[in-house]
Amino acid sequence: MKILFVASEVAPFAKTGGLADVTGSLPVALKGLGHDVRIILPLYKTVGEGPFPIHKGRKSVEIPLGGSTHKGFLRQSTSADIPVYLLENRGFFHRDHLYGTPAGDYPDNHQRFAFFCRGILDLLKRMDFRPDILHCHDWQTALVPVLLRYEHREDPFFMNTATVFTIHNLAYQGLFPKTSLAEMGLDWSYFTIDRLEFYDQVNLMKGGILAADLVTTVSPTYCNEILSVEQGCGLEGVLAERRDDLYGVLNGLDPDEWDPATDRHIFKTYTSAALAAKTANKKGLQKRLGLEEVPDIPLVGMVTRLASQKGIDLLVELLPRLAAEKVQFVLLGAGDESYHRLFADFKARGAGNISLNIGYDSACARQIYAGSDIFLMPSHYEPCGLGQLIALRYGAVPVVRKTGGLADTVFDGRDGVREPNGFSFDDFTSEALWETLQRALQAYRQRDAWKKMVRRGMNRDYSWLQSAAEYERLYRNALATKRL
Ligand code: ADP
Ligand code: GLC
Repeated sequence: MKILFVASEVAPFAKTGGLADVTGSLPVALKGLGHDVRIILPLYKTVGEGPFPIHKGRKSVEIPLGGSTHKGFLRQSTSADIPVYLLENRGFFHRDHLYGTPAGDYPDNHQRFAFFCRGILDLLKRMDFRPDILHCHDWQTALVPVLLRYEHREDPFFMNTATVFTIHNLAYQGLFPKTSLAEMGLDWSYFTIDRLEFYDQVNLMKGGILAADLVTTVSPTYCNEILSVEQGCGLEGVLAERRDDLYGVLNGLDPDEWDPATDRHIFKTYTSAALAAKTANKKGLQKRLGLEEVPDIPLVGMVTRLASQKGIDLLVELLPRLAAEKVQFVLLGAGDESYHRLFADFKARGAGNISLNIGYDSACARQIYAGSDIFLMPSHYEPCGLGQLIALRYGAVPVVRKTGGLADTVFDGRDGVREPNGFSFDDFTSEALWETLQRALQAYRQRDAWKKMVRRGMNRDYSWLQSAAEYERLYRNALATKRL
């Protein structure tokens, strides 16, 4: 099959979170199954400044949006032998961030991504590539299935192209005022309940869910959760309409990208058979962050977007207690300004065993996965979560809230599982988190049993193998049942 991945972020080119990990690694697994997979994303400023060879092509498009015409240029690069197309428009994408500053989203995001979606459909016709599957990810790409369904319905070029829309996070829907329709080049026929209208606003995610041939999300548990009022973010009814075409496919990891045996950024490489070298990573991390360099104190790590989704509020409540505990706690995160301020305040008060680091730093993130004994992810909700998978692979035992993909990947002995790999709790309260962390800290002292759990986590298969085969099956399904 010919498959085009359409995404607003793709590792290693542009990344703010797990979406980029998925769109950067699932194509590699699909290629391994024999498919012609390609990827397209916007040419952001940071991509242009990165270490990637970018080839200028001659193909360009002109997209009319809200009274003016915007020109786009097709550029090309490669990643792991996969062609990566980059759509350039300096006005829209030559900015310091992908979606906005810490103070808030860019006000023209609807236009930026409408330009991206429209540009792709126009460019495809000029390229020597007619995809069987357009696999679109999150609201930024939702207009692709919408436009294909309503503007290209009779278009012979796309006659045999099916769309798959993957929800990575239902809370980010691409909600805009109705005046944005014209700015996206859409007329009022789109402002109906079966297209984009949502409580008198435009909802791009809703449009994608309704228009795609098939809809997926990134774990089986989240797939069930989003059908409920509590977790459906207002779209539970829309999702129920597509229930027969909705699937939860668990994310995998690129086993080469995330491998403590070869990772160039950690202090010392290691395997599950030779765990002693993991201690060197703990020491390295303690040194780097100015923590006391002692080997036997449990080190608890966290690498996260700073957003309420991630349970940061529970953590903030517990910081004073952590400061008084015989543990070291290390956090690396960036996101909402309010959390930046809270952490700055706490830092100013000073606690020798706590290291709060604001920023986005992929090398430091890897050092935290490698240097931690325990990895915290007390998420309020979690579509899949890759942090806990990376932690498991690097031998840091996860302590998580049992929700979404965390419930599908972290197994607690207290629930009667035979082969536990971590600790989890149900109630979204700081008490439940604290109690579970205490259980983990107690288990840490049982050294032999702990090492066994660490090894079990490291040795499980987190690769895309199984899930890529499932996507392959779903692609065939989408093509066979393509809606007219
Ligand atoms: P989400 O996509 O919701 O942020 P995931 O757990 O799926 O959560 O993926 C997060 C990804 O982003 C992981 O690869 C994690 O290591 C990375 N990451 C998150 N925050 C940072 C940060 N501040 N610096 C470096 N990497 C980060
Ligand atoms: C989103 C979700 C996260 C998931 C990632 C990749 O960012 O918040 O849970 O792992 O997408 O699918």
